[in-house]
Amino acid sequence: MKNKISARAHTNIALIKYWGKQNKDLIIPYNNSLSLTLDHFYTDTTVTFDDTLTEDTFFLNTKQKKDKKVSAFLDVVRNQAQKNIYAKVESVNHVPTSAGLASSASAYAALALAASQAIGLNLNRRDLSRLARRGSGSASRSIFGGLVEWEKGHNDEDSFAVPMEETIDWDIQMIAIMINSHEKAIDSRSGMQHSVDTSPFYNDWVKSSERDLIDMKKAILEKNLEKVGQIAENNAMKMHATTLSANPSFTYFNPDSIRAMDAIRDLRQEGITCYFTMDAGPNVKIICSKAETPYILKKLSPLFGEKNLLVAKPGPGATLI
Ligand code: ADP
Ligand code: DP6
Repeated sequence: MKNKISARAHTNIALIKYWGKQNKDLIIPYNNSLSLTLDHFYTDTTVTFDDTLTEDTFFLNTKQKKDKKVSAFLDVVRNQAQKNIYAKVESVNHVPTSAGLASSASAYAALALAASQAIGLNLNRRDLSRLARRGSGSASRSIFGGLVEWEKGHNDEDSFAVPMEETIDWDIQMIAIMINSHEKAIDSRSGMQHSVDTSPFYNDWVKSSERDLIDMKKAILEKNLEKVGQIAENNAMKMHATTLSANPSFTYFNPDSIRAMDAIRDLRQEGITCYFTMDAGPNVKIICSKAETPYILKKLSPLFGEKNLLVAKPGPGATLI
């Protein structure tokens, strides 16, 4: 048997963050999260299950890599399909890897779709989301396009993402300020676990995110960009407060991240509707309208360089290619 399938999935940036697991093995989070899938950043992955292989192999951007997470994920797929057969995985990231731009989200959504199809499982999108979650929590959301909520659930069956608005008919998009595209020192997985284990503010983060989610969903239904931005920015900073209050403390901010946040606050003073969010890396994402994007780009280009400002519109869900 030799079966080769390719899939594409886009990254997503959370407006309400996922930051901590109740169950590390099954990847069940402490709180629901909500994100926007982006068209600009994506991963293409080809999976070939081949019964002549004696082990899994993984190539990222054409270089062979040892990656225990990929094999552990393929074990979940093999277990579901009840087939004992190894795979070759070839993946290309059209997004910087491990830089806080959600490469693990697009990666595991693409891998879940390609691997499940290649092994002969024909999963619906809910089950694909559950499967992608086993690779990386945020990947559960990248199965869907547009605005997506990951319902935390309690177990493997009921923890999956659902689309809130797959087609977005109002003016919201993002600009990523590429401050540093190198791999970060502390990956999301260990950063969030250290925050859960040591930040005295962790429980407050969870409670506060639950309230933020209710307000965020209301703001989305009202198509109110200002409210969406305000809630998202505040939610992101509360997430980062759990890293600053961890013991020992750590941060994903670097001096340029602070400079970017200040520049966005300055633009707000000028009356522009723009807010920032940050993930597990120094790059800053601006939540703004398409209409005001040219002005924001004009103001930020002298500070960060035109080529470092990447505009991303709402993007689609995972598909076979
Ligand atoms: P990011 O901010 O890019 O999402 P994370 O620390 O959350 O950073 O995830 C990075 C990890 O995701 C990598 O260390 C690797 O394990 C995994 N990853 C990234 N791209 C791929 C890919 N195309 N295929 C498989 N795994 C990937
Ligand atoms: C800050 O989904 O990469 O981007 O489940 O351990 O693979 P694992 O973590 P991951 O964490 C994402 C964290 C975040 C916030 C978010 O995307 O919601």
